[in-house]
Amino acid sequence: MSDNHVTGPPVLADSSGHGDALENLMHENRRFSPSDEFISGAVAGPGLHAEAEKDRPGFWARQARELLSWDRDFTQALDWTDPPFAKWFVDGQINAAYNALDRHVENGLGDRVAIYFEGEPGDTRTYTYARLTEEVKKAANAFESLGVTKGDRVAVYLPMIPEAVITMLACARIGAVHSVVFGGFSADALRNRIEDAQAKLVITSDGTYRRGKPSALKPAVDEALKAEGHTVGHVLVVRRNNEPVAWTEGRDLWWEDTVDAASAEHIPVGHDSEQPLFILYTSGTTGKPKGILHTTGGYLTQTAYTHQNVFDLKPDTDVYWCTADIGWVTGHSYVTYGPLVNGASILIYEGTPDSPHQGRWWELVEKYKVSILYTAPTAIRTFMKWGREIPAKYDLSSIRVLGSVGEPINPEAWMWYREVIGSNAGKHGEQKDNPAPIVDTWWQTETGAIMIAPLPGVTATKPGSAQTPLPGIVADVVDENGQSVSNGHGGYLVIREPWPSMLRGIWGDPERFKETYWSRFQDMYFAGDGAKKDEDGDIWLLGRVDDVMNVSGHRLSTTEIESALVSHPSVAEAAVVGAADETTGQAVVAFVILRGTAAEDHDIVRTLREHVGKEIGPIAKPKTILVVPELPKTRSGKIMRRLLQDLAEGREAGDSSTLADAGIMGTITESLKKGV
Ligand code: WT7
Repeated sequence: MSDNHVTGPPVLADSSGHGDALENLMHENRRFSPSDEFISGAVAGPGLHAEAEKDRPGFWARQARELLSWDRDFTQALDWTDPPFAKWFVDGQINAAYNALDRHVENGLGDRVAIYFEGEPGDTRTYTYARLTEEVKKAANAFESLGVTKGDRVAVYLPMIPEAVITMLACARIGAVHSVVFGGFSADALRNRIEDAQAKLVITSDGTYRRGKPSALKPAVDEALKAEGHTVGHVLVVRRNNEPVAWTEGRDLWWEDTVDAASAEHIPVGHDSEQPLFILYTSGTTGKPKGILHTTGGYLTQTAYTHQNVFDLKPDTDVYWCTADIGWVTGHSYVTYGPLVNGASILIYEGTPDSPHQGRWWELVEKYKVSILYTAPTAIRTFMKWGREIPAKYDLSSIRVLGSVGEPINPEAWMWYREVIGSNAGKHGEQKDNPAPIVDTWWQTETGAIMIAPLPGVTATKPGSAQTPLPGIVADVVDENGQSVSNGHGGYLVIREPWPSMLRGIWGDPERFKETYWSRFQDMYFAGDGAKKDEDGDIWLLGRVDDVMNVSGHRLSTTEIESALVSHPSVAEAAVVGAADETTGQAVVAFVILRGTAAEDHDIVRTLREHVGKEIGPIAKPKTILVVPELPKTRSGKIMRRLLQDLAEGREAGDSSTLADAGIMGTITESLKKGV
């Protein structure tokens, strides 16, 4: 199946996970204009759009030169002579780590806090820019001493601790390409990613803390490297929770013996603007995750630009907290690169929001005086469920900008975010006259940085809409034939012009890159999302139109989970759908046909959930597994997931006239009632 396969008309399929959300969205007409006070101090003014429209490459060139320090200036902003392979800031040379670190120290900001770290057990560390620079220099020397050179791949399997950021920047400094693998992925998933990228070095930790208990990470690395024939020479292990670990002599090294002991002198060299910076794997519509490749100059330009303008960053006074894990692109662009290149003070928190109590995040906001908070709708909906009296116990008055990312935010969650978090002016119930603006930011692993979002001092915001392509970005909504739809209509979201932080390809698979993103519509990037333009021309995102699910803002592939299920000996066939879920947006629901006597096994559902956890990772475990005698298929044998989605969401199954066997939905419904 091709990657850009479209399963249904986006404007009809409400995959936003909120029942009649689409209907409701179209009646949403609240507007919130920025306050005069916010406008007068805002980083981004209304002139930005006009400037970008006049000369887009020139606009980006200005951003690149103003936001970054180049070792060698570029001669051309964009080379688009071989689409879809773009080159940005041609001939330029730049070092990402120098831009995120050394230059701030050289500019007299060495004492500014770069990272406030709070571990789940409550331990804290503070890194100034001077200290962080030193740590990164040591790590760069250590990696080089382990034989890592420019272009080599380094796999990173770490929890949310400062060493994760240090590792990314140390790789960038020496021109090595990091491939961060989310700590919630299984040993199998880690092995596949290490193999695909042919990583030379793996960086991990003994473990982390999760809900008050130590949890292990290194065993997954040991398991992933059990088979012969891998490319990994060394495993560097950060000591985090002091749990005992197995040790392979000659291969495994402690961070403290290697990095801490290394020299703190390291001179950065400029790398080509198109030097690969990182690979990040993400689920597509086939079973095999795609290694999304990002390069240096363009990526840094757009992450820094968006971080500054969308969050209205004032680096000398703000404390910025993006709650994403570094295992996802948000953790790359808006924990590490954007903020540090901009010289911001960031907060990193290791643990879960409910440990040791459900007010932990708000306690952190109060303690560190967080002024910019960037999180996901699924978190907001969880806090809604826990109750508004919890955040009300804390002083959140420091907050002045709120961000949302990862999935469509339903207006109800948006309003709660504004009223409960953005209006809190102290723990005694005081309310702000001018609540913090909310920026709903649409983008993807592939786009590298934010593409569609309000500008907080410019845009009158609408609850539930990402609204406007940023200055410099040309996004549109088109119909089946690639024609721009008129206001009030829906279709497919596309990007019409190249942008600096665009993916440069899929690691090792240029054909799949073209096929997935550039073949559905001519000369346009196809994002895989359905969208609608409202009467003002503002964009509303409606969820994926392909076989990709979005669970808690994390991307999962139906096909990948189906493959995991059928790899179990008890499963004959499987079909997976994302069903609307109040908290997580979508939830994984699997329909399986069992083999032989497996149906008599009372534990089969649990066994299969565990199996998926082992194959992919705990995040991919189906919330519900339904055992069925048959699956609905078309005459050509394609599973009609739409009908299964109807069942999973408790609806009467829709039009089944194209099924090979018209009676099948009745059989399935009957069997589910009986509980086969
Ligand atoms: C998919 C990308 C971008 C970082 C986190 C996810 C959905 C993302 C929004 C938003 C509606 C959104 C889209 C997109 N998405 N942000 N603000 N409104 N949908 O990155 O894992 O690459 O997933 O997330 O469906 O295609 P990702």
